[in-house]
Amino acid sequence: MGNLPHPIQYQGSKRGLASTVLNFLPKKIERLVEPFTGTAAISIAASARQVSQEYWINDLNKPLMQLLELIIEHPYDVANAYSQVWNEQIGDSIKHYYQIRDKFNTSNDPKLFLYLLARCVKGAVRYNKEGLFNQSPDKRRKGTQPEKMRHNIERVSKLLKGKCIFTSFDYQEVLSQVQSDDFVYMDPPYQGVCGNRDSRYYAGIDFDRFVSSLEELNQKDILFAVSYDGKRGSKTFGHELPKTLNLKRVQIQVGRSAQATLLGKTEITVESLYLSNALIHHLQNTKVDFFPVYKELALKN
Ligand SMILES: C[S@@+](CC[C@H](N)C(=O)[O-])C[C@H]1O[C@@H](n2cnc3c(N)ncnc32)[C@H](O)[C@@H]1O
Repeated sequence: MGNLPHPIQYQGSKRGLASTVLNFLPKKIERLVEPFTGTAAISIAASARQVSQEYWINDLNKPLMQLLELIIEHPYDVANAYSQVWNEQIGDSIKHYYQIRDKFNTSNDPKLFLYLLARCVKGAVRYNKEGLFNQSPDKRRKGTQPEKMRHNIERVSKLLKGKCIFTSFDYQEVLSQVQSDDFVYMDPPYQGVCGNRDSRYYAGIDFDRFVSSLEELNQKDILFAVSYDGKRGSKTFGHELPKTLNLKRVQIQVGRSAQATLLGKTEITVESLYLSNALIHHLQNTKVDFFPVYKELALKN
């Protein structure tokens, strides 16, 4: 499970948590719906375990969804394009990065976006007030080698080709269309510490609007899970979701913060995963290995 392909570098990706999150998914799903897909870390992990027949991949960031669609449906085109752009950086790679960034900001070409994400600081998507991508290049790295990128792209495509629909709607539009046999995994933008004022897609979503969307899912008995608030050392980030939603909260350990490790502290980061009541009932009745994991993580609340 540790060795899953991840072509897209992205701050906030759930790749490190995916195998734990998967413990809380039903054994078999008709369709996995991710309204905040990002790099699709959870869909990739679920497809490697053949948990779901189909996938709905949605994120407000349109070039990101176009990129995922290319990776999954046209892997050779996007791998060739990456290789070409990557090789062109030999010489003055910083100047090259800014040229590609300018090109992306006029064309929105998702193939260029792949190079920018591989090459920019922390894989962090940042936009200015005009909505132009303005993240700087990481001066110490050149971005994933083309051969490694090609390999990752081909593996993701093998897992998901022909099984997905791709959209770039606001999450509420997606939730209004979910069906009773869908499973919905939600990972909305971080609230607070990781939010950036200048970042379009990480600016956060309205808390009350999100809570009422979850209420509606409860009313329809939809099986869902939400990654939300968390804690680093003794510092908490994000609001907890209200008790009225009747969700069960488990806490997943993410890892040590690099900064804390440097300072010799052992700061532990945990993220909350909320499980809907309908999901808990379903898992209790269908998954024998669910309860031990649940008990262990729920106890840490
Ligand atoms: C924390 S990231 C998701 C990361 C993802 N789980 C992964 O593993 O890569 C949150 C995502 O929500 C998207 N987003 C922000 N506002 C949104 C909205 N109103 N509707 C849908 N997606 C939105 C952002 O573009 C971002 O990719």
